[in-house]
Amino acid sequence: MMPSLTASGLSRLLGGWNVGAAAAYRELADVVRLLVLDGRVALDTALPSERALSEALGVSRTTVTAAYALLRDQGFLTGGQGSRSRTRIPPLTPAGTTVFTGPARKDPALTAPGLAAPEGLIDLAYASLPASGEVVHRAFAAALTELPALLPGFGYDAIGLLPLREAVAARYSAAGAPTTADQILVTSGAQHALNIVLRALAGRQERVLVEHPSYPNALDAIRAAGCRPVPVAFSGGRPGWDMDSMQAALQQQRPKLAYVVPDFHNPTGQLMPDFQRRRLARAAAAAGTVLVVDETLRELNLDSIWTTPVAAFSPAVVTIGSLSKSHWGGLRTGWIRATPDLVQRFAAARTSLDLGGPLMEQLAAAHLVRALDEPLPARIAALRDSRAALLELLAGHLPEWEAAYPAGGLSAWCRLPAPISTALTVIAPDFGIRLAAGPRFGVGGAFERYLRVPFTLPPETLEAAVLALRSAQDRLDAAPQLRRTLRNAPAVAIA
Ligand SMILES: Cc1ncc(COP(=O)(O)O)c(C=O)c1O
Repeated sequence: MMPSLTASGLSRLLGGWNVGAAAAYRELADVVRLLVLDGRVALDTALPSERALSEALGVSRTTVTAAYALLRDQGFLTGGQGSRSRTRIPPLTPAGTTVFTGPARKDPALTAPGLAAPEGLIDLAYASLPASGEVVHRAFAAALTELPALLPGFGYDAIGLLPLREAVAARYSAAGAPTTADQILVTSGAQHALNIVLRALAGRQERVLVEHPSYPNALDAIRAAGCRPVPVAFSGGRPGWDMDSMQAALQQQRPKLAYVVPDFHNPTGQLMPDFQRRRLARAAAAAGTVLVVDETLRELNLDSIWTTPVAAFSPAVVTIGSLSKSHWGGLRTGWIRATPDLVQRFAAARTSLDLGGPLMEQLAAAHLVRALDEPLPARIAALRDSRAALLELLAGHLPEWEAAYPAGGLSAWCRLPAPISTALTVIAPDFGIRLAAGPRFGVGGAFERYLRVPFTLPPETLEAAVLALRSAQDRLDAAPQLRRTLRNAPAVAIA
């Protein structure tokens, strides 16, 4: 039987939503949209009739009719006119994101194929860059000429092609962590690498220490592996590692793994200094915890601050790297650096996920790792400009937000004046932007007072985005009840 929701059931889920505002219908639509997006109202649920809901909420029938009409326009409801309206999610774009309608801002930079934003929306949910340019094309052209030499083989290679492993190893050696090719396993990106490490080293119910906030897809991978994330807050909730707390958590909880992003941490952009790296590596070794260091953002060193790879402080460290940020996410090429024994274990563990990476990509990646320094100066210069523009725009238009200065990476982590992150995210498409709410970066609903704002877009687009953020916050400021409801809507199952 299709699920349905009674008027009193929806009224309960709406968490005390009430009349009052001039555009009450829009607020009602926003809250219902949040409930659907959050999964608190299941898809294909029949909503109560307009009459029943207006009675349960004590609002005019016109308010409910207008709210349902808006949700229908936005693609969140089907049916009506005689039949019960049913919840749905708007169709997906080719890039896999939801299409919202509304007064969207047109930006030609966002209409390029493959970009994740629904057409017309400025995408602040992703912190990624386009390809590094002609160097990628050149690498694939060279790979094509090298491919025939591999064709007589079977093509399955669970560890990865030797020239790529040698190139990655040489880069670590040059950075101060002497490395041989048998210490490198090639993966399809850093996310894949983490999944392999989890599969090989962490059993269900085992603890994995994480920074809090942390990279959402890593948190998802840890949960999906059946492990329990142990969050350790940054210093007093401010960006920057609180090494006393990290050490205490390692000693007391003895997690199986610790997953950290010391190089331009996502989302805060912070850089861990060498003395903390050394201390962390020692503390993990003393606790018997495998330290998994994600270096995906290491090359985006905007202030040219030199640090040593954590692997240089302990041979037991497992390091994850990727070409996604230095060259392009579309390459889907990364690696794990570990002891030769562990590399063999990872190679065995990966076979339940895949049987090796595609060889063309690996041939091209070997050229790209050797050419890593070629695209970086232009990429870093553009990111510096965008970072400066974003911080200035935020200070000018949203002075009540506190943006921690990111030493590198792709985003700034902003403290909001109130716990409005989810509410902002829900109404953001109405203002032409797409956001990732702060709680995505935390465990157990934390970070409702934070928002990650990437500086991956050019300054002109960032200006439009910050003005949109200002307008969205103004709307919430003018409707405190909406803000409360969006925050408090309880996570209750539906009847
Ligand atoms: C810290 C971190 N790790 C991993 C990834 C995913 O990298 P990949 O595209 O190589 O899977 C990202 C992407 O944003 C990231 O920021």
